[in-house]
Amino acid sequence: MVTVLKMQNICKSFVGEGGGEIRANDNITFTLKRGEVHALLGENGAGKSTLVMNLCREPDSGTVILNGEKVELHSPRDALKHGIGIAYQDLSRTLVERHTIAENILSLATGFLLSPSAIEEAIREALVEYDLGELDPQMSIWKLSGGEKQRVEILKALITNPDILILDEPTSMQTPLEVERLFSLIETLKAQGKSVVIITHHLGEAIRISNRITVLRGGKVVDTLDEVRVEAMKKEPEKGARELAQLMVGREVLYDLERKGLQEGPIVLATQDLRVNNDMGVQVVNSVSFKVRGNQILGIAGVAGNGQRELVESIVHWREATGGNIHLHGEVITNKPIKEIRDRGVSFVPENRKKALILNMSVRANLMISYYADTPGLFVDREAMIKKTDGLIKRFSIETPSPLAPVRSLSGGNRQKVVVARELSRQPPKGEQLLLIAENPTFGLDVATTQFVRQELLKMRTAGAAVLLVSSDLTEIMTLSDMIAVMYKGKIIGVLDASSATRESVGLLMGGVVGETSNVGEDELIEA
Ligand SMILES: Nc1ncnc2c1ncn2[C@@H]1O[C@H](COP(=O)(O)OP(=O)(O)OP(=O)(O)O)[C@@H](O)[C@H]1O
Ligand SMILES: [Mg+2]
Repeated sequence: MVTVLKMQNICKSFVGEGGGEIRANDNITFTLKRGEVHALLGENGAGKSTLVMNLCREPDSGTVILNGEKVELHSPRDALKHGIGIAYQDLSRTLVERHTIAENILSLATGFLLSPSAIEEAIREALVEYDLGELDPQMSIWKLSGGEKQRVEILKALITNPDILILDEPTSMQTPLEVERLFSLIETLKAQGKSVVIITHHLGEAIRISNRITVLRGGKVVDTLDEVRVEAMKKEPEKGARELAQLMVGREVLYDLERKGLQEGPIVLATQDLRVNNDMGVQVVNSVSFKVRGNQILGIAGVAGNGQRELVESIVHWREATGGNIHLHGEVITNKPIKEIRDRGVSFVPENRKKALILNMSVRANLMISYYADTPGLFVDREAMIKKTDGLIKRFSIETPSPLAPVRSLSGGNRQKVVVARELSRQPPKGEQLLLIAENPTFGLDVATTQFVRQELLKMRTAGAAVLLVSSDLTEIMTLSDMIAVMYKGKIIGVLDASSATRESVGLLMGGVVGETSNVGEDELIEA
């Protein structure tokens, strides 16, 4: 097969806080052949996004060779002009929230299609052609779910019909159905002789979709697995995934979680007939009642966009509850000030991590938020605080050149780790249990960190915390939860005891199919 793209001896460094050098790409050579899907894997911070960014921003050294010719690419538009469409990972940088889908696409594609109406028409056609589902071109970006934004980003990369498509974590927020659609799209593109680079933390997906796989670690290429090796992995994907994980981290990754049977504790959180609107004023949580006990993980399963986001946001009062009640430790906290709720020992890992971080502030400062509230007494022991935050950086292996580096400079996954580390390490008020609300807590995290975070969630459960886990990842829900509630169109349509639930039973409920066995334990869960 012909090589369409070669990135040769690429070096890209960043200056860290205190002047230290971060070698994000250290002499990387990467090739892409015509008609192949090439997966790019590596831990959070391995340098994957940086490598891709060299196609729209000059590397420090090294060459980019496109169809045999050396090129210099300075901007995303440059890349597009050369037939390279890139769906970037950090959507907060590439999509303008206040603008519509059409405006976002127009701004990039100016010069190739001129009028807004022509763009809208092109978007509608492309959505059908690429089977990317429904999206209204006139919808503003801020109104979209994470998954929808990812689809806009993919569309933006595809709409100029590039020869090379680069997808940086395109599936992290997609439902299984959307992932299937994207994969058949990739197959179609491949059949047309196009080439695709895909970055993902889902190793099974990588094995399934790709022809070759390159693994990065610490800014260097560890290995490129050729077609023969990837083909062999397709036959034994689980074994393959373990091999890949080992290549990524350089040691064996622990796959088995330790999960003890526990006596359930007192009720920590209970909602009653809770009703919540979405950003457009439409009621998307319709009379939801449930409770979560100490020593218990209640998993809320469901296809993203069925009210889960609004539900959890209303509990922490990031969003108004329009009806019903929320009880914490038996007291009504509905629409109470955010700080008050937080101070009563409510931790929140939101899917939108940007909202939980102050990007321009240091890693340490971000980890310290709420330390004051959690520490009794008038005086804050600075030394202890620094010791604690430095300990968290180590324990959660947050890759940062220094505790003083701004969070903005961290890779996507490492930013997420900052939020998780902070929220999972909070102290509940004396004599009470912590309530941890985790919304897709492992999305964007590499395999090893995902396992680590899941183990930490289980440890919190053992320590007595009540955990409300919202996840669109069925595996995550199944492996962690004690009880599983499935949300569909704003309602909890079924509650299952996790020990007897199957992927099929939960999957059917997620699709809105209510069967005979779906209400096991519902009374136990709902009667307050
Ligand atoms: N603009 C920047 N300024 C400073 N450091 C940066 C910048 N961009 C990336 N880095 C650093 O370069 C390294 C590689 O980051 P990169 O975003 O390429 O990782 P990644 O493999 O894409 O990780 P993830 O899976 O978390 O997305 C990280 O240590 C990151 O902190
Ligand atoms: Mg990245």
